[in-house]
Amino acid sequence: MSTIDYSEKIPNNVDLANDKTLQRALEHWQPRFLDWWREMGPNDFASVDVYLRTAVGVDAQGWAHYGTVKMPDYRWGIFLADPIADRTIGFGDSLGQPVWQQVPGEFRSQFRRLIVTQGDTEPASVEQQHRLGHTCPSLYDLRNLFQINVEEGRHLWAMVYILHAYFGRDGREEAGELLARHSGDVDKPRILGTFNEPIEDWLSFFCFCYFTDRDGKFQLKSLAESSFDPLARTCRFMLTEEAHHMFVGETGLGRIVRRTLEVMKEAGSDDPEAVRRQGAVDLPLLQRYLNFWFSSSLDLFGSEVSSNAATTFANGIKGRPDEMTQYQDHVCADSTFEIEVPDGKGGVMKDASPMRNAMNEVLRDAYIRDCEIGLKRWNMQIKRAGYKFELKLPSSRFRRAIGAWANVPTDLDGRPIDREELDRLMPGWLPSASDKAFVRSLMQRVVEPGKMAAWIAPPDRGINNLPVDYEYVRLS
Ligand SMILES: [Fe+2]
Ligand SMILES: [Fe+2]
Repeated sequence: MSTIDYSEKIPNNVDLANDKTLQRALEHWQPRFLDWWREMGPNDFASVDVYLRTAVGVDAQGWAHYGTVKMPDYRWGIFLADPIADRTIGFGDSLGQPVWQQVPGEFRSQFRRLIVTQGDTEPASVEQQHRLGHTCPSLYDLRNLFQINVEEGRHLWAMVYILHAYFGRDGREEAGELLARHSGDVDKPRILGTFNEPIEDWLSFFCFCYFTDRDGKFQLKSLAESSFDPLARTCRFMLTEEAHHMFVGETGLGRIVRRTLEVMKEAGSDDPEAVRRQGAVDLPLLQRYLNFWFSSSLDLFGSEVSSNAATTFANGIKGRPDEMTQYQDHVCADSTFEIEVPDGKGGVMKDASPMRNAMNEVLRDAYIRDCEIGLKRWNMQIKRAGYKFELKLPSSRFRRAIGAWANVPTDLDGRPIDREELDRLMPGWLPSASDKAFVRSLMQRVVEPGKMAAWIAPPDRGINNLPVDYEYVRLS
């Protein structure tokens, strides 16, 4: 197992000390990263003590150390999962050949584009969440927000390392650009749509962690299959950290549901107005937030049928999540995949696409199944409390901006409807201005250890076996 060298300016397990040119280039990038963090990160909390975990190894057990740090002093570093001996290419046209330790020249631009796109999402989310600290529902949640923020910063480092180490001058330029684009910036926005959506309240934050970070999980899982071994190893370790982000999303939304059910019981009513009067989030409002973030996140997977997806699979650049364990056919040269497309007459028709071209859709399908898990759990809570309400994921055709269903008006079940009907019904399907204003009114900061805002139940347990009322962030 490789250990992480913490005596270096940049903690790493890639033997940076023995590559002076690379080390110098990254040490040059480091202060620019810190400037970006101070400007775009949770800068109002730069001087507070936060109980954070830091990577100290890369094996699954005991990889993290927990301790109190001020965020600007966090040790962002470069950590790759240990290599797998004699690893061979797991999919595509070069199946079975040894994996690559360098980027093959002919695939360079495809790799670069994927790495830059992944890298761009990491700082984007820190920028989106930049002001949330001021309205935290508890110190426990505040700590989780900061943990996610520092780890997204670390993920940026992970991608910047690959760019610097394997893409020469182009890579260094791209690494600079990753700090120059900003979420929601009119002139230089982040690359992907969802990463330019504002996250101004904690309901959006938990939805983002649940739906958008989960897109990240699936992208990382498919890059962890890559034939370019350093990229695969980088992504494998990122997934270890990423699991916590999804945990925050799932438990955050679950705690909101639990609190809402308590309030419904106390009020003896499931009327949204009655729930709101008690300062909690009514379930239909939660549903509208889910509709928004889920449909936005679906676009991140790209078009249903894509020649680009076919080439990246064929060339061994990007596989499917759990390629080895979930699939038998790793070449997919002559199989097909059935997709649903608009029939041009206001209906839906099935179309068979060559499997390789449908890889985005294969990924999206796996993602949707993963998204269902939390909803099942929350619906169980609702049912056990004795209410009929059911939270549902909208159809993957609903409100799409990319792919076969882009700008095709459909209802929540994916049935094509006409444009006027959509305009009439859409306000009931997405968070309205008054929904957002109400949610904003709930966002009062709670910072007494162990106390929770009225709209969210406490977590089942604290972090790293500490009690829920531990002072996870010392503000004074
Ligand atoms: Fe990330
Ligand atoms: Fe994440």
